[in-house]
Amino acid sequence: MSQGKRVGIVGAGNVGATVAYSLAMQGSCHEIILRDNKIDVARGKALDMSQAASAVRSHTVVKVAEEMSDLVDCDVVVITAGSPRLPGMSRDDLLIINANITKEVIQGVAKYSPNAIIIMVSNPLDAMTYVALKESGFDRSRVLGMAGILDSSRMAAFIQEKLGYGGGQIRASVMGGHGDDMVPLPRYSTVAGVPLSDVLSNDEIEEIVDRTRHGGAEIVGHLKTGSAYYAPAKSTAIMVDAILKDTKQIHPCAVFLEGEYGYNDVVCGVPVMIGANGAEKIIEITLNDAEKEMFANSCSSVKELIDTLNKNEFFKGE
Ligand code: 2OP
Repeated sequence: MSQGKRVGIVGAGNVGATVAYSLAMQGSCHEIILRDNKIDVARGKALDMSQAASAVRSHTVVKVAEEMSDLVDCDVVVITAGSPRLPGMSRDDLLIINANITKEVIQGVAKYSPNAIIIMVSNPLDAMTYVALKESGFDRSRVLGMAGILDSSRMAAFIQEKLGYGGGQIRASVMGGHGDDMVPLPRYSTVAGVPLSDVLSNDEIEEIVDRTRHGGAEIVGHLKTGSAYYAPAKSTAIMVDAILKDTKQIHPCAVFLEGEYGYNDVVCGVPVMIGANGAEKIIEITLNDAEKEMFANSCSSVKELIDTLNKNEFFKGE
């Protein structure tokens, strides 16, 4: 057997299962272990995906963790477990319910996969990443939240739609929390290296910024019974791949800040170099005053959620 990489995925709903499918199709790892309370659904999906992997001659095997204790010695664990965001529900409404789910799951991960790198996907994303960090006791480099890749991809797709060209050549950049006050950065977005302001008007750029901020809700509005999963899952798989292949690529991710950008004790989306050790480096880009103000607002929104958890004595007694 080659050196086997094992990825655990907690939550085999639309996002978790699509992460597993994407990794299995890419042959990113040796083994994927799905964990879900709906064990039969997880069993069915694992079997189905293992057969799809066979069809594309991928060596990846998809298994099921019957118990949390089966999620053992994973290199990466992706957490998608949580109550989904339903129409009319803000990401923040999910706070307490998903914090409790995250707490329980993370305790299991820390126990059975103590060397894993954790990728949080559950919402509200930044606050859940904070909960995962505190509950695991892991170094901050080993707890990352997925969101910046998703939000940047949405922005890039909206730019392409507006321009009618440039597909695959657009680099969009979004920082901040994964909420309505995220910080799309047109100044750091390009089409084949051409600044956005050279190909779009200010009004068009503003429209794209606004649509990006509400990109998740737009899809919820269409689906009606749930939220997006293809782009969230692919964005997560990109992070898993960067860790397993030690690519050292830079992607926007949610990480715990210790002085970067002037913030402490908060999780927020910033450009991060991802490698085998997780978030190996946080890149501090230069923001102008307006961007700094938007980033400050976004950090305060995340801090408010953390404060709400603290007021509810969520972290007490640990
Ligand atoms: C999204 O942005 C629900 O956060 C999820 O699609």
